[in-house]
Amino acid sequence: AMDSGVAKHPITNWEAYEIELQERIGIDQKLMTRITNQAKKDPKTVVFAEADHYKILKAAQIVKEQLIANPILLGNRARIAAIIEETNLDLHDCVIIDPYEEDEKREEFAQLLYKKRQRKGLTLFDSRRQMRDRNYFGAMMLETGEADALISGLTRDYSKTILPSLQIIGVEDGINKVAGMYIILNKKEPYFFADTTVNVNPTADELVDIIGLTARAVRFFDTEPRMAVLSYSNFGSVQGDIPNKGAEAVRKAKQRYPDLLIDGEMQANTAMNKNLLREHYPFSELAEKGANTLVFPTLTSGNIAYKLLQEIGGAEAIGPVLMGMRKPVHILQLGSSIREIVNMVSIAVVDAQNYNNKHI
Ligand code: ACO
Repeated sequence: AMDSGVAKHPITNWEAYEIELQERIGIDQKLMTRITNQAKKDPKTVVFAEADHYKILKAAQIVKEQLIANPILLGNRARIAAIIEETNLDLHDCVIIDPYEEDEKREEFAQLLYKKRQRKGLTLFDSRRQMRDRNYFGAMMLETGEADALISGLTRDYSKTILPSLQIIGVEDGINKVAGMYIILNKKEPYFFADTTVNVNPTADELVDIIGLTARAVRFFDTEPRMAVLSYSNFGSVQGDIPNKGAEAVRKAKQRYPDLLIDGEMQANTAMNKNLLREHYPFSELAEKGANTLVFPTLTSGNIAYKLLQEIGGAEAIGPVLMGMRKPVHILQLGSSIREIVNMVSIAVVDAQNYNNKHI
């Protein structure tokens, strides 16, 4: 039998439970509501690279019903049809594209990819082979304007899923490295965490780039960033690679982005607790209000922090929001929930709506 990814438990009950839980613990959903409403004003075409999975199809149905996006489903046609049939999803008038059936399009895309990467060691043979991969095919649909945004991920790990997009879409002009951000919704104001997905051990200068990208992305969500660069030390209390790197990044960021409220290096509780800041570090620019945006010194710390909050913190993590790509691409984390996928689609649509002027 085909493993359609349909859970053994009645999924609808789990969805209701999830919503009830959010309400009970009182997570403030204003930011996401605003984004969803903005998406509905001008829905965009979103290609789902890994559509042969129940959760993606269910999310596609939701965004279609709610007029958030026009989904294009990419994947094995028979498999997608079987899941739709088996789970009674209402996706019958939705465009399904099976890259294996698209001989002409695959060849056109393979030639384009070959042109892009022939001086990066790619042969035409390998380019044709790669176009059978949905992540390459989907990225090429975005690149050629057949879709406005790409949502991928869910079944394979992040590093493998992001590579085709890095190779085909690439970074925006003037940006060196892309990075990933999470929005942490909780009872109070939203918090923003970066880099939680891409750069393993950024240098001080790379941290400055990440700070710039993150400031822009936080503003994209109509919030003014108050940013702290984190470490295990406070303002030089310990010397070491991580504290020194953070302090250097803050110094350089203050020069490069004079309008940005940023300080560090500091510990996470110092950043979040303005009383602590006022009592011990009253000189800090953050002492008035504390931070709402945390920049982590390494991927290890950022990734672990948001995952812990997601599991035990009474918070909802929205993301990962990929920052600095030339076009709207967002890569889901392995095993994202339907709700997380729907949220990412709304963000991708708003990202696509006005991409040349204001984006993530
Ligand atoms: N920003 C922009 N472009 C990049 C970046 C970046 N941060 N990193 C690599 N690239 C580009 C390279 O310039 C290169 O382009 P080119 O081939 O056109 O010259 C291309 O991507 C591939 O580069 P490689 O050197 O082959 O790839 P690399 O080994 O650097 O891998 C990757 C990049 C996959 C992003 C890597 O940094 C990585 O594995 N990061 C960690 C991802 C991860 O595991 N995250 C944790 C889980 S995420 C989660 O939990 C949701």
